[in-house]
Amino acid sequence: MAIISIKAILPQTTASMQSSVFSVAISFLLFIIPFISSAENTQQEISSSSIERGLAVYKKSECAFCHGWAGDGQGHPRSPGAAANLRSSVLDKVALTQIIRCGVPGGVMPYHDRLAYRDNRCGVGAGSLSEKQLPQQGKNIKPADLDALLAYIMSSVQGMGSVTFAQCEKYFKTGSRNCLYLQSNTAP
Ligand code: HEC
Repeated sequence: MAIISIKAILPQTTASMQSSVFSVAISFLLFIIPFISSAENTQQEISSSSIERGLAVYKKSECAFCHGWAGDGQGHPRSPGAAANLRSSVLDKVALTQIIRCGVPGGVMPYHDRLAYRDNRCGVGAGSLSEKQLPQQGKNIKPADLDALLAYIMSSVQGMGSVTFAQCEKYFKTGSRNCLYLQSNTAP
């Protein structure tokens, strides 16, 4: 019944059909826009949550002992060697990944992939480094944690310039005594 009546009015309503196709298209676009932007939001949420997770990995892997909480190379006075300033590091993701997983042979930077020197994933076969060249073993960092750590370093450490009070309170907590030394850095 409904089909018959549509057929009956079809010839006369071509123009209005066209405009209704048009309005269907418009309403479809309007309908999907919120999904497009919510997809973007989800991506932002994922990356900000992986940055948070990366910060936790930075803390629990003891990077701060040598590199300082801010990554500025001002680690614990008793930490070995002069740790690199990660804020001014220009290494890209591939190079960061390599150095965190494999450490620096003959250097102080430890390796954080527990199998780094068990096979040749670091470009050196097992047993081919002398005892002196073999880096120290740091905390093991799982691949997903490493991704998060990279997100943290690349977004919140590299290129961050001088250390601020706000960054310090974000790292420790609001009111932390660890940040008193930076208090004069706050805007009035
Ligand atoms: C025992 C001290 C120590 C610890 C712990 C440590 N590092 Fe290092 N790191 C160093 C030193 C020292 C260097 C400079 C290279 C060398 O002498 O081995 C370095 C170099 C680096 C570099 C290279 C930077 C550049 O631009 O050349 C990166 C990136 C890095 N460390 C990240 C980390 C991260 C992330 C962690 C924690 C998972 C960490 N380090 C833990 C001492 C340490």
